[in-house]
Amino acid sequence: MITTNDIRRSFLEFFNEKGHEIVPSSPLIPHNDPTLMFINAGMVPFKNIFTGAEKSKFLTATSNQKCVRAGGKHNDLDNVGYTARHHTFFEMLGNFSFGDYFKEQAIHNAWELITKTWEISPDRLTVTVYHTDDEAFDLWRKISGLPEERIIRIASNDNFWSMGDTGPCGPCSEIFYDHGENIFGGPPGSPDEDGDRFVEIWNLVFMQYEQDGTGNRIDLPKPSIDTGMGLERVAAVMQGTHDNYDIDLFKALIAESGTLTGTATTGDNQASHRVIADHLRASSFLVADGVLPANEGRGYVLRRIMRRAMRHAHLLGTKDPLMHRMVGALTGEMGNAFPELIRAKPLIEETLLREETNFRRTLDKGLKLLDAEITGMEEGDTLPGATAFKLYDTYGFPYDLTEDALRTKSLGIDREGFDKAMEEQKAAARAAWKGSGDQASEAIWFDIAEREGSTEFTGYSAEAGDAMVIALVKDGEEVRSAKAGDKLIMLTNQTPFYGESGGQMGDSGLATGEGGFAADISDTSKPLGRLHAHHLTIKDGAVSVGDTVHLIVDCARRTQLRANHSATHLLHKALRQHLGDHVTQKGSLVAPDRLRFDFSHTSALTDEEIKAIEADVNAQIRGNSAVVTRLMSPDDAVAAGALALFGEKYGDEVRVLSMGLDDDSDYSVELCGGTHVNALGDIGLMVIVSESAVSSGVRRIEALTGEAARLWLSARDSKLKSIAATLKASPDELSERVAALVEDRKKLNRELTEAKKALALAGDGGSSPSAEMEMIGDVTFSGQVINGLNSKELRGLIDETKKKISSGVTALIAVNDGRATVAVGVTDDMTDRHSAVDLVQAAVAAVGGKGGGGRPDMAQGGGPDGDKAEDALKAIKAILAG
Ligand code: ALA
Repeated sequence: MITTNDIRRSFLEFFNEKGHEIVPSSPLIPHNDPTLMFINAGMVPFKNIFTGAEKSKFLTATSNQKCVRAGGKHNDLDNVGYTARHHTFFEMLGNFSFGDYFKEQAIHNAWELITKTWEISPDRLTVTVYHTDDEAFDLWRKISGLPEERIIRIASNDNFWSMGDTGPCGPCSEIFYDHGENIFGGPPGSPDEDGDRFVEIWNLVFMQYEQDGTGNRIDLPKPSIDTGMGLERVAAVMQGTHDNYDIDLFKALIAESGTLTGTATTGDNQASHRVIADHLRASSFLVADGVLPANEGRGYVLRRIMRRAMRHAHLLGTKDPLMHRMVGALTGEMGNAFPELIRAKPLIEETLLREETNFRRTLDKGLKLLDAEITGMEEGDTLPGATAFKLYDTYGFPYDLTEDALRTKSLGIDREGFDKAMEEQKAAARAAWKGSGDQASEAIWFDIAEREGSTEFTGYSAEAGDAMVIALVKDGEEVRSAKAGDKLIMLTNQTPFYGESGGQMGDSGLATGEGGFAADISDTSKPLGRLHAHHLTIKDGAVSVGDTVHLIVDCARRTQLRANHSATHLLHKALRQHLGDHVTQKGSLVAPDRLRFDFSHTSALTDEEIKAIEADVNAQIRGNSAVVTRLMSPDDAVAAGALALFGEKYGDEVRVLSMGLDDDSDYSVELCGGTHVNALGDIGLMVIVSESAVSSGVRRIEALTGEAARLWLSARDSKLKSIAATLKASPDELSERVAALVEDRKKLNRELTEAKKALALAGDGGSSPSAEMEMIGDVTFSGQVINGLNSKELRGLIDETKKKISSGVTALIAVNDGRATVAVGVTDDMTDRHSAVDLVQAAVAAVGGKGGGGRPDMAQGGGPDGDKAEDALKAIKAILAG
């Protein structure tokens, strides 16, 4: 038997041999189309090439594209489990021509692969063409030789393919396989076409137009080819079954769920096992591509898929969570073709387990409520909308899960009643919020959030992407459009731009769009914590609500923000390890050029502490371990040892960032919604550049990472070298040289003081005549005006003069920069007659000062009038003269 994996390989090889580039499957989240929730066809990644907006490196390509058809234009969720061919996740094999070959070659290739390479009998094949496409009809006649009655003209949209309301489209031709008359169904176009007998296996789209959403179609620059073959369907054909769930891949998954649940996989259980197998694939691939369960947007589609499967696991009677135990079987089947499944296996298992554990807390009660409500109902009855809403709101039952639960009983739901209950709840939330006073000025954000929902942030994995404009706010008012020169705030349905929160600054970058629209986004804020508001200035063109714009984050700046944010987590941990667990975050700023971290700690950090913290952080950086993100409930996160961040509000689910290694466990685990490096080595380097006090008990560290850290160290080095050059020494000798210089300076100062004193005593220290001793009455007096001595030196000199005169009074007045400093000494035997304090005060008054003080034997003071120094001496002498 040819396996599913073989068929995939064979398809790609066939087209590769015909010169087609093998293009790996894109992730399920389209980054080039804001109107699409998930990639739903093989051509989506090539959309811009078809329209001519992007140039391709190759003219023909082939791929096996992962697709999800749930929660969008193509939504198959409700049917999965109950039909032979519906899936939420499937693989589309395709070949593409971007203006190279067209209809003839496309039909030729398809026919050759199916009938020659794969040896499927032409007798089993029927094809369709769009009713007006005579060219395709004739080509099929010529190439396949099929009789005319098996080339069926179809007038409906089945033979006109479009990706969505906008984008490339064109007439198509489908190839059907006839599973034989044992199976119910009729050929395409017949009343019984929906039966399982005739199954479409390949769709060849002759891409010719682009549609704009209002029904207008314009010609594509070059007619192109897009084909799509469902891998699971063709595997069924080649493995001799009409049922996709009987192919090798699904058999393996279903066998696993049978073993793990200990239940039969047929009969009444069949639908449940199919749902489990299908939803396991969708959930696992979505998680591997970065989607995590949430209450809005893509995350909610994932949650709906997961919970739908989990209800079926419960229905099979499993006591414990099941889904995570099946991931091994899936990676066994598909891990070779999709290595991302293997890489993400731990995250997939953990996410499934957490979701199932949480859901099981309410699932049982919800089902009991449901059972009670439907008792007595009869086929065709409807469950009241309010009950469905209660199940949704209180028990976490997505609407379609309740619908699915009622399906086997042929009961419906009053959808209008459900919608009404939902509206009422929103109105109540709004009323409660409006009453909260000063926040009323932000009513505009509330209106937008309520109308449009939260902005979906795609920036954990992408730095650019398309988005749809959902609101424009100028000067506090909503506007429909804006033009060049306008400064305003733009909101989009999704964005890779991070809105300022958790200390991390918002992203800046560019927005572009049709008609030459170009705008600079200077900042992104996050009103209400759930809208991403781009603050922009329009440079060219104009933008209106409803437009698609292309958003490009300033990557270099974002890279620095990532590094600084991850370094902040490492710093936080290192601080706690070195200073103690009392260290908690009191504030944080993650800017592109630096990081600032405030934390509780009472004393200044010592140099050794700073060095040790810096060393630990850098050792983690060099360890280069991967940074791991998980989604958990806040309680689980805290139980797992995560540090909750200051000032953050946490919702039902939080992101938990683990980084670094400490023996065998994570070094740092924190709750954080910020953007981070992939591996710690991306930080490069961290240096602490300052440590200071913010307020009592709160310290602040500022640090740099990466290139900023290198530049800082390099600038320090340049300074060191320039100092060394001035000292004519090498940087290595600097400490010794500077210590020696300081020692020299001290010695010189001492010598200078001695010299000055000696000079003063020698009688030639200043502008006055030398200090003659004179007798005033019976008192020996020595007075002198000298320049250049400070007050300490003056006092020393007074002591020496007192010794010299042995009995008497000495006064010295030093004039420095025009100011006079006065010092007076009285020998002990004279203090009962003259107090140095009185004498100084008289002298100070003479030089325009006030006061002066000390002891009777030594006093000091000063005044502004240095030029009156001689008058000060005279004032003293006058007192001595009595
Ligand atoms: N894009 C086409 C489809 O999805 C081939 O059927």
